[in-house]
Amino acid sequence: MKLTYFGQSCLLIDTGDTKLLFDPFISGNPIADHIDIDAIRTDYILLTHGHGDHVLDTERIAAHNPDAVLISNFEIVSHYEKKGLKGHPMNLGGWWNFDFGKVRMVNAIHSSVLPDGTYAGNPGGFVIEAGGKVFYIAGDTALTKDMELIPILCPPLDFAVLPIGGNFTMDYHDANLACEMIQCHKVIGCHYDTFGYIKIDKTKAIDIFYSHKRELLLPAIGETIEL
Ligand code: NI
Ligand code: MN
Repeated sequence: MKLTYFGQSCLLIDTGDTKLLFDPFISGNPIADHIDIDAIRTDYILLTHGHGDHVLDTERIAAHNPDAVLISNFEIVSHYEKKGLKGHPMNLGGWWNFDFGKVRMVNAIHSSVLPDGTYAGNPGGFVIEAGGKVFYIAGDTALTKDMELIPILCPPLDFAVLPIGGNFTMDYHDANLACEMIQCHKVIGCHYDTFGYIKIDKTKAIDIFYSHKRELLLPAIGETIEL
């Protein structure tokens, strides 16, 4: 399984037979200006919530990937269906078997509204079983005891993508604590360094995880890693 990081919370997971793009925000990211957005190919676009730093390039990418299916909550999918995109609406606590695997929508403690002011429902995260792996994409969230439900409801996680930038979400200290709750020791950090409020000391973040016998991976923007 391959993961390509595109900055902020945007990443592409290639399960081997399906490509899943999460939270496309690239054109507005000053540190991702070397990414060729229109060259990105995906089968699905998954949105954790409606904020601009997660949805900005959704329509542009959908225009270049006309068969791509949007997966998000009911409100966000309805919003984009009105603009002609194809979507599969879900909501918190629900799961669905897609052609690539199983998606469960889990809680996130955050807020959510679309850039044009449209109500975007509740923010969420995804636990996905696909390509022989199980992984958690947290979206923007505070540390929450709800994370303890994940190992109860889902098979053991192979890796998790967690926000680590603080201010708007968990910081890396809280993300390190989240590992205990979700019982996962391999984390890809996201939602950091994009703008001033979320600039972090990456070495310190990696050291904190390492001292707890955990791995924090911080791929460069545009880098692909094997998982
Ligand atoms: Ni947000
Ligand atoms: Mn965000």
